[in-house]
Amino acid sequence: MLPYLVFLLLSLSTHTHGENPAIKLILTDKGLQYGKHLGAGFVQDRIKNMSFADIKGRIGLVKYVLSGVSVSQCDFPEPTVDFYEGIGFKAMISGLNIRVIGKLKIKFGFIHVGGSFDLAAFNVGVTSEVRLGDNEGHLSISSETCSAEIGDVNINFHGGASSISKMVISIFKDHFKGEIQGKICPAIKQQIEDLERQLVAIAVSFQVGSDLVLDVPLSSSPLVDSASLELDFKGEFYNAKSHTDPPFQVQNFSLTRQDSYMLSLGMSEFTANSVSYSYFSTGVLVAHITDKMIPTVFPLRLNTSSFGKLIPQLPKLFPDLLMELSVSARKVPMFSFLPGEVQLGLPGMVTAFAVQNNATLTPLFKLQADSVFSGQVSISGNKVQGSAALSNFTLTLVSSEIGPFKTTDLENLLRFGIKNGVLPKLNAKLEEGVVLPSSHHIQLVNPVLKVNKGFVDFSSNVAV
Ligand SMILES: *[C@@H]1O[C@H](CO)[C@@H](O)[C@H](O)[C@H]1NC(C)=O
Ligand SMILES: *[C@@H]1O[C@H](CO)[C@@H](O)[C@H](O)[C@H]1NC(C)=O
Ligand SMILES: *[C@@H]1O[C@H](CO)[C@@H](O)[C@H](O)[C@H]1NC(C)=O
Ligand SMILES: *[C@@H]1O[C@H](CO)[C@@H](O)[C@H](O)[C@H]1NC(C)=O
Ligand SMILES: *[C@@H]1O[C@H](CO)[C@@H](O)[C@H](O)[C@H]1NC(C)=O
Repeated sequence: MLPYLVFLLLSLSTHTHGENPAIKLILTDKGLQYGKHLGAGFVQDRIKNMSFADIKGRIGLVKYVLSGVSVSQCDFPEPTVDFYEGIGFKAMISGLNIRVIGKLKIKFGFIHVGGSFDLAAFNVGVTSEVRLGDNEGHLSISSETCSAEIGDVNINFHGGASSISKMVISIFKDHFKGEIQGKICPAIKQQIEDLERQLVAIAVSFQVGSDLVLDVPLSSSPLVDSASLELDFKGEFYNAKSHTDPPFQVQNFSLTRQDSYMLSLGMSEFTANSVSYSYFSTGVLVAHITDKMIPTVFPLRLNTSSFGKLIPQLPKLFPDLLMELSVSARKVPMFSFLPGEVQLGLPGMVTAFAVQNNATLTPLFKLQADSVFSGQVSISGNKVQGSAALSNFTLTLVSSEIGPFKTTDLENLLRFGIKNGVLPKLNAKLEEGVVLPSSHHIQLVNPVLKVNKGFVDFSSNVAV
């Protein structure tokens, strides 16, 4: 039963070892118990559905073949499943009753007897301890210990020479009790090995959109204590074509177990910044701005006469020409997670050009434009929403082909433009929010999201 439980619980889990993890997942006892409850039903169905290959054997001179064996009834009491500190899980079931039916053929010298049988095993108890580990970034599972005991066995034969059957029934009884008892743990081991194969086949990196890959191998072995399981993942986005790691590191963070929630997920600001880095390093963060893109309400046109109000010498040197701006990120835009707030620093570079009548772009000046945005994120239902504000904007002249000029007025104007032109559109989008991805009909119940220093903490209960 345990393998399926683990599989259910961790099916969301999907290589570089020794790095600090950027994503952490904690499963609490509440989550484990809910998973067990789901898993128990699944295992019961699976037991009922089990089919067996023909069983051939002999007891002394009696040869027998059991064929068409199937489970006709199974009382599956709720198992207990607990975290097993430093190892994984410990599962116990006691008082399981199971009835199998099938055909029996007995050969004893010249005597051939055929008929059907039903066999009930009562009060079956199984204890299984499984070890969780890290198999090259994949969650791995193996059987640590297993013990099984059968309280009693009851066999009935129907048809054939029931007198012979009755004679051998007592021998069969003990024989079968031992046979079945000896088969339980190997069967569980087999199931755990099957599960291990499935876990190893689960992808640990995922394509996100057309450009990005999210890399989430385990960064260390699962951490199991008496009340929770923690899985640590690498949690790095990189560009699908040019896989380069960002020049910054994950800062350690510790995710606190919250016993009233089944699951907690912590994501370091590193994960967000790895997205920034992959866009930055592939040169995507560049924009060309022409006059046509400036809203008509904006008090400045992108041409040399209009800019004369701010840079008096410009229209004298380049009379009545349109201008173009090339805006790019000077450095990687970085997110900082602070208590209750997300900040984004955008170090920008603006190069201004005059568009000559023959379409040649003549460079005019270069500005360093640094903005800091601060935002809030919240969760409602299955939607993550946000809002953003400009908290700092500074403009500095880096170089000029047209002589020095004061940037204060331009700075004020651009600040006004960001606040009144850019942010309202951005905030409309952020308010619309992003629907959280869901899978296998799993619903989030009372999810909460909290931004802490260096990481965001998402906790939730789930319902299937
Ligand atoms: C039971 O077996 C049938 C036929 O092999 C299969 O279609 C079904 O999915 C199985 N159910 C479970 C719960 O394994
Ligand atoms: C991060 O924490 C782990 C375990 O707590 C520790 O082994 C490691 O040295 C820490 N790394 C840094 C960079 O602080
Ligand atoms: C420049 O902008 C002004 C408005 O400020 C406009 O009157 C003028 O026609 C524009 N010149 C060009 C070349 O677009
Ligand atoms: C375009 O016009 C400018 C200014 O008149 C001139 O300096 C430049 O050489 C011209 N370029 C081409 C390719 O004609
Ligand atoms: C805005 O940024 C500038 C330059 O980085 C800095 O000197 C200034 O203190 C910042 N102002 C605020 C209010 O954060």
